[in-house]
Amino acid sequence: HIPVITIDGPSGAGKGTISRLLAEKLGWHLLDSGAIYRVLALAALHHDFTPEDEESLVALAAHLDVKFEAEEERSLTHIILEGEDVTMTIRTEQVGNMASKVAALPRVREALLRRQRGFKELPGLVADGRDMGTVVFTDADAKIFLTASAEERARRRFEQLKGKGFDANIDQLVNEIKERDDRDTNRSVAPLKPAEDALYLDSTNTPIEDVLEHVLTFAHS
Ligand code: CDP
Repeated sequence: HIPVITIDGPSGAGKGTISRLLAEKLGWHLLDSGAIYRVLALAALHHDFTPEDEESLVALAAHLDVKFEAEEERSLTHIILEGEDVTMTIRTEQVGNMASKVAALPRVREALLRRQRGFKELPGLVADGRDMGTVVFTDADAKIFLTASAEERARRRFEQLKGKGFDANIDQLVNEIKERDDRDTNRSVAPLKPAEDALYLDSTNTPIEDVLEHVLTFAHS
């Protein structure tokens, strides 16, 4: 049996941080499924595809030449698209918005399923995304749904972008986050929602370290 913990939730809820810390603590593999959608979005932008170019996007998703290369010392995963290091370039809001548009296409999601499931390897997997517990790993051992208010998530995203040297505007971020929530929640396929058997955590007023403690206790139970 290969154990899986899924962490789903909306943009900026702290899933990325929690998932990375959890995977490090357990010594497990990490799947950042959002990064896969972002890489696809970046490749689509490079090709001048629009979200309406469904056939091309499905083909792109099926043949996406993406590699994840772990750099142990800095606990950083390099993301390589067609030989180019796109670790930083996929993090812009432009790419994030495009990602949520291509992610709304059912056949694109279908084309990425097997690739995501391939991350499930011994000794275990922490899977971060929107539909990890509801679609991709329905038989996961522990499922978590992590959320926070849109304002708090925009504030965190602001700090994160600033830390990476990107310019950001807080009001614009709140709007973009709400827009993205809306698209992710209301799409016809794999809409963002907690799995029935998920632990629901609201981290609006809880520091990430406390959330991690909570998650670890839950995962061990
Ligand atoms: O953390 P952030 O919300 O910026 O985004 P992300 O996790 O990197 O994912 C980018 C976009 O990909 C999201 O807005 C979702 O629309 C989509 N996504 C998805 O549909 N399913 C997943 N499992 C992961 C991401």
